[in-house]
Amino acid sequence: MRLRDKVAIITGGASGIGKATALLFAKEGAKVVVADQNEAGGKETVDHIRSDGGEAIFVRADVASAEDVQSMVKAAIETYGKLVILFNNAGIAMRLPVADLPEEDWDRCIDINLKGVYLCSKYAIPEMIKNDGGCIINMASIYGVVGGKTRAAYVASKGGVVNLTRGMALDYASNNIRVNCICPGFVETPLVRDVVKTPEEYQALAVQHPMGRLAKPLEIAYGALYLASDESSFVTGIALPIDGGYTAG
Ligand SMILES: NC(=O)c1ccc[n+]([C@@H]2O[C@H](COP(=O)([O-])OP(=O)(O)OC[C@H]3O[C@@H](n4cnc5c(N)ncnc54)[C@H](O)[C@@H]3O)[C@@H](O)[C@H]2O)c1
Repeated sequence: MRLRDKVAIITGGASGIGKATALLFAKEGAKVVVADQNEAGGKETVDHIRSDGGEAIFVRADVASAEDVQSMVKAAIETYGKLVILFNNAGIAMRLPVADLPEEDWDRCIDINLKGVYLCSKYAIPEMIKNDGGCIINMASIYGVVGGKTRAAYVASKGGVVNLTRGMALDYASNNIRVNCICPGFVETPLVRDVVKTPEEYQALAVQHPMGRLAKPLEIAYGALYLASDESSFVTGIALPIDGGYTAG
């Protein structure tokens, strides 16, 4: 098992990529703290892990709330005694060009997608330092490295995540904390439900990826597993594309 006895917090673990990663990490021996605003979905992930014989707890947390995030980290320490892996995965879509984007939607997108990464890391890092190190995986996107139409706040938030990753990687390399991010192309999750309602819409997105399809959540989870495991022990500060070739051209 590649994560035996490691303790991992996964934000956004109630759905999509976060859920797939929580199930995979637990199968690989991690004790998983599933954190999400969505209580029903989060508890479902935990039930699934436990019925497969794994260990997990659910914590309701809004990653944009410092208070919730501190309680989340506390729950991990109180339950499992340490914190080794943080997967900052929670995020929301925001599909409007700037002139049409209400200020509160801009704030919500940046608060969850970017400030959430800062807050969770801020409170997790001291616990990792106590434990002689750890690893943080941030969820960016292809839209962290290339632009995209009608989603200015989202691309800004994910571009921020890519460079926040590099900054944190440099700051904490000497503490044996590795910090990396993942840049997926489009993935078949509820997040993209609005834009893939019909086979034609699916195809229009699929052709933007040289491999001609969208990713499955598990294909992203395997990238997170590599970055969380000791197999990537000399890897820090990277933005790993998992995008079927989207950003290769
Ligand atoms: N699906 C894609 O095409 C795609 C592509 C690239 C990157 N991403 C990124 O992957 C991450 C996961 O997305 P997904 O596709 O699995 O979406 P999803 O909607 O299936 O899951 C996102 C989860 O995050 C949770 N969440 C949202 N706001 C939260 C908050 N404030 N606090 C705590 N939890 C919160 C939701 O409740 C949900 O369970 C996001 O950061 C997203 O931007 C997704």
